[in-house]
Amino acid sequence: MRYVQLDTPKPISKIGLGTWQFGSKEWGYGPEYERRAAEIVRRALELGVTLFDTAELYGFGRSERILGAALGDERAKVVVASKIFPLLPVAPVVQQRAVASAARLGVDGIDLYQVHQANPVVADTTTMRGMRSLQDVGLVGEVGVSNYGLRRWRFAEAALGRRVLSNQVRYSMIDRGPEEDLIPYAEQAGRIVIAYSPLAQGFLSGRYDATNPPAGAVRRANPYFLPENLERGAQLIATLREVADAHDATPSQIALAYVLRHPNVVAIPGASGVEQMERNAAAAEIDLTDDEYAALVAAAHAFRPVTGLAAVPRMVRARLGK
Ligand SMILES: NC(=O)c1ccc[n+]([C@@H]2O[C@H](COP(=O)([O-])OP(=O)(O)OC[C@H]3O[C@@H](n4cnc5c(N)ncnc54)[C@H](OP(=O)(O)O)[C@@H]3O)[C@@H](O)[C@H]2O)c1
Repeated sequence: MRYVQLDTPKPISKIGLGTWQFGSKEWGYGPEYERRAAEIVRRALELGVTLFDTAELYGFGRSERILGAALGDERAKVVVASKIFPLLPVAPVVQQRAVASAARLGVDGIDLYQVHQANPVVADTTTMRGMRSLQDVGLVGEVGVSNYGLRRWRFAEAALGRRVLSNQVRYSMIDRGPEEDLIPYAEQAGRIVIAYSPLAQGFLSGRYDATNPPAGAVRRANPYFLPENLERGAQLIATLREVADAHDATPSQIALAYVLRHPNVVAIPGASGVEQMERNAAAAEIDLTDDEYAALVAAAHAFRPVTGLAAVPRMVRARLGK
């Protein structure tokens, strides 16, 4: 495992574990998955993973409970990251919600407490007042944000009066927005970009095609899995396979290596089984050559999926099986 070269109280592994899948029916993994989730966490610990990401929203607290129980006595050694969903993020609410998350996780302190998304109405001055008091009493280690643009990330730092260590955003080969400003800022200021959906929810694994889309409500709502987009992605997957073959690796591992190339980026892929966790952890060791990286960039640029409003009628038709 590799770790971010930054001054943090505990090392942060380049590959973390995302746990939205835990206790969330929308992924369609069934009741058996809860036992597997615990195995995934234990294997991740053995492989040197130190970053575990959850949120009060995931399974309405179930993800935090499953993760905390699975970590057991190792909780204190790793970086437990959770998120507040900022419905009304005034200071007392922020404090009360952190206490509730810590209780579900079974921890004395949340190592990284993140604002799940920017509240369009409540300014960060309010939210960060709550965060600062949580840090002052030691219930929260580092503060993070999620789905923030650069301007608001920096504003949040000014409001907190301390570093907002990380911004958790969608970042993968086919969602490259963070390369424009968030990643350069993280590198210059000593912050971290946490890449969520780094496999584009499994699209980049190459496991799925138009005749074999994934099950579950989460991915039915993701336009990348429209039959048309799965077809359009064939060349991109072929390039991933080509690079993967040269490393005796899988397309997913190469997709992870792509985002991890930046020193201040860590990725938190979810996993449906232990073997995926093992492969994802191993991806941290893969170094892409400049030529391979250029080939991946070119293939990613050439991929033009149907997204946004244009995707809506197609998704309805796919839902109706037409
Ligand atoms: N802050 C936010 O707003 C936000 C939003 C989304 C996610 N997140 C966080 O980020 C985490 C990861 O994002 P995500 O779950 O949306 O997407 P992801 O990590 O890109 O995709 C996860 C899925 O990819 C497949 N997969 C994982 N490893 C694989 C491997 N080695 N080989 C082949 N397939 C593999 C699995 O699905 P199958 O095996 O079923 O194909 C798995 O459930 C979440 O768990 C959550 O913690 C945060």
